[in-house]
Formats: sequence, C-alpha cells, structure tokens
Amino acid sequence: MSKYGKLLALIVIGVLAIAVLGVAGCSTPAATPAKTTEKPAVDLKLVTSGQLTVGSDTAFPPFESMNGNVAEGFDVDLMGAIAKEMGVAKVVFKTEIFDTLIPTLKAGGKFDVIASGMTIKADRAKEIDFSTPYFDSNQSLVMKTGGVYKVPADMASKKVGVQSGTTGESWATENLVPAGATLVPFKDAVSAFTALQAGNVDAVVNDLPVSADVIKDPAKGLSMIAQIPTGEQYGFAVSKDNSALLKAVNDGLSKVRASGEYDTIFKKWFGDLPK
Ligand code: ARG
Repeated sequence: MSKYGKLLALIVIGVLAIAVLGVAGCSTPAATPAKTTEKPAVDLKLVTSGQLTVGSDTAFPPFESMNGNVAEGFDVDLMGAIAKEMGVAKVVFKTEIFDTLIPTLKAGGKFDVIASGMTIKADRAKEIDFSTPYFDSNQSLVMKTGGVYKVPADMASKKVGVQSGTTGESWATENLVPAGATLVPFKDAVSAFTALQAGNVDAVVNDLPVSADVIKDPAKGLSMIAQIPTGEQYGFAVSKDNSALLKAVNDGLSKVRASGEYDTIFKKWFGDLPK
C-alpha cells in the first residue's frame, strides 16, 4: 500500500469508528420509554381535580362491595391500577343504586366514571361512552339447593328475583315471563339473594360470576340451576362530553393488561386466570 493509500485507510477507519461510537452514544436515551410524551393528568376534566370519582352499586361482590366504608373488589382494584397509569393519585368510590348510575353520570357533577360490572349495551351506549371491554360475563339462575328444574319450562308460576335495570332483568323479561314466571325487582343483587334464602322468591337471575360467589358458601343453601350464555362484556363508562377521560381510561386499561397487573387482580378475586 502506498503512503497515501495507508493514510486514506486510516481516515476511513477513523470515520467508521466515530460513526459507530456516535450511534452507540445515541442509542441509550432513545431506548428509554418516551414518558414525557404522555398526557399529564392535570389535563383531565374531573369532578374533583386530582381524584377519580367513581360511581358504583357497591353490593355486587366480587366486583364491588363495601368493607366498612372502604370499597373493595375486582372493579375497585382494576380502576385503581388504571388511575395510577393515568397519573391520578386518588380514587374515591361513591355508592349509587345501579338503576340511577347512567342518568347521574349524564347529569354530571357527581362522579367521573362508572365501574359497576356494567354490561356494554347498544341502548346504554347511546347515553354514555363505554371503555373497551374489561370482563366477559353471562347470566345464571339460582334456586334453593335440592330441586331439579328446566329453564325456562319449569319457571311457570315461579317468582323470580332480579336486580332493577340490569341485563338479568331484561333476559328474564324476554325468556321467563313468556314461560309464566312473575318477576320481582330488587334494588341490588344482595337483596335479591337474601329474599331467595328467606323464601320470598323462588329463583334469582343474576350475572354468573356474582352468583358463583354467592353459592360458594354452602350455609346459604343455594345452587346454580342454570348457566345462561348471554356473552356479555363489562365496560367502564364516562360522559359523552369527556372523550379525553375515555382515552385515558382505555390507555390505562391496555397498560394494566400489558404489564400483567390485570391478571394479578383477576387471580386475586377469581382465583384463576381469565379463560
Ligand atoms: N352486568 C349487569 C348489567 O350491566 C348487572 C350489573 C350490576 N352491577 C352492580 N354493581 N350491581 O346490567
């Protein structure tokens, strides 16, 4: 190699080395998550700033129930994890009768989001906006242990308890009333099951995961007579004029799913992974 050739080779090596070092030097900051591009929580329109106020019928274990004056359950933990992803430090659950959740959310000023095992339904979606689905559910029919019944055929002249304003009530109206049953509406699911135990109604139609939790205690003397595959999906709900909050909830939910925290919360309340 000539003198110039050697010099040229050294220059080429030098340029290459700088290029490689330069790329390596830049790669570190580029690899860290782009946290700064996230929307700060202060941008959210909330009833009480810095806090997510949640409307819920808190008599629906294991999704939501009151332990003294503290709300607990799957929805409570999931909403808490989502709020953390949103950068909102505090979550406060406010108890409301299920039937009044949608009109109260629409009226505004009382809570920001509904987390209440609420099934995503077209007629409800005309009133409020639903998040992406977060739980798959079905209906069930529960009676006192000991009998064998066909549903709906054997429900003629039976008194069937339902929770007012729920999908269980709609299903029973469409399927059990034509078979001769009489529906008895209750303000919450817990009261319907209490009436069943007391013999004031003959059966209860209710969301399957909640019924499964109720019948777990053999002392109650209740059994699931039928599983009713309605293929429902639960969603959180926000007011139609708060699309920023809807996006924040959806983004938070996908992060909680991706991090594995959704599965941890699911296992905590249902003892298994989602199917
Ligand atoms: N999934 C049913 C519905 O949306 C029942 C929900 C009842 N939830 C409650 N927290 N009581 O109609």
